[in-house]
Amino acid sequence: MEIINRRQRMSSVVRKLRRDGSGERTIGLVPTMGALHEGHLSLVREARRRCDYVVVSIFVNPAQFGANEDFAHYPRRLTQDTAMLTDYNVDYIFAPTNDEIYPRGFSTYVNVEGLSNEFEGAARPGHFRGVTTVVALLLNIIRPDFAYFGQKDAQQTIVIKRMVRDLAIDTEIVILPIIREASGLAMSSRNASLNAEQKQAAAALYAGLQAAERAFSSGEHSAKRLSDIVRVNIAREPGVQLEYVAITDTEAMRPIEKLDNDHDALVSLAARVGATRLIDNIVLSPAKRPRTPSS
Ligand code: PAF
Repeated sequence: MEIINRRQRMSSVVRKLRRDGSGERTIGLVPTMGALHEGHLSLVREARRRCDYVVVSIFVNPAQFGANEDFAHYPRRLTQDTAMLTDYNVDYIFAPTNDEIYPRGFSTYVNVEGLSNEFEGAARPGHFRGVTTVVALLLNIIRPDFAYFGQKDAQQTIVIKRMVRDLAIDTEIVILPIIREASGLAMSSRNASLNAEQKQAAAALYAGLQAAERAFSSGEHSAKRLSDIVRVNIAREPGVQLEYVAITDTEAMRPIEKLDNDHDALVSLAARVGATRLIDNIVLSPAKRPRTPSS
């Protein structure tokens, strides 16, 4: 495993990998901001299973943090992350410095209009512009065949898929399921900022989503009633301050009023537990719901 810090070197290495050997060689990229956990590792495992070469990028991207957000305190653990990845047979870690990604005079940003301003984008203005800019750069530098993202950042996955489609970027975006702690808490690098009590409280997020899933399975189709179920369940946990619950389609995050039997619906939420902002989601899938003649 080689750690690469320069974008030029990263580009020339992957160019060479593609040319070497006989036949087509596939490259998988797992973009991360480090502080790796089981959620990231599930992406790495899948990339390893499917691709000839695996690159994990580790870059805490300043452009996706707002002025009042936790950029300065975001966990940085390159040594531990590197040690973790040696067990996963990763070929390259791309860990650029800020200047490598945003050299002096950098002035070109990628923005998916509309969707980038909704939900997480409304709470974190400029966040998705930062995400799409850095992901576009990573995809340009590495030119992977596949890039792996976690469903936990549901809106991010939708925004990135849209960018890749709109800009005709030749990479397949692969989304893998959320990995959860035994309590149901979705794994996230931000969980490191929670104390034991807060971690316990944060489990209420998934419990709320599961309550909506049960109601949906029993035939509840009203988005308002399903989001109320999430709200009421989470409100029982005083350690959690819910910011929003949204019920939308899964392709463009358009709000839905009534769920139907033909389309998946995304229930996403954000909440604060102490000073930490957490997000979570669940997909309500008619395929998983037992069908009755009237449903
Ligand atoms: O999901 C993340 O960790 C980041 O948003 C990403 C995709 C690595 C871009 O910085």
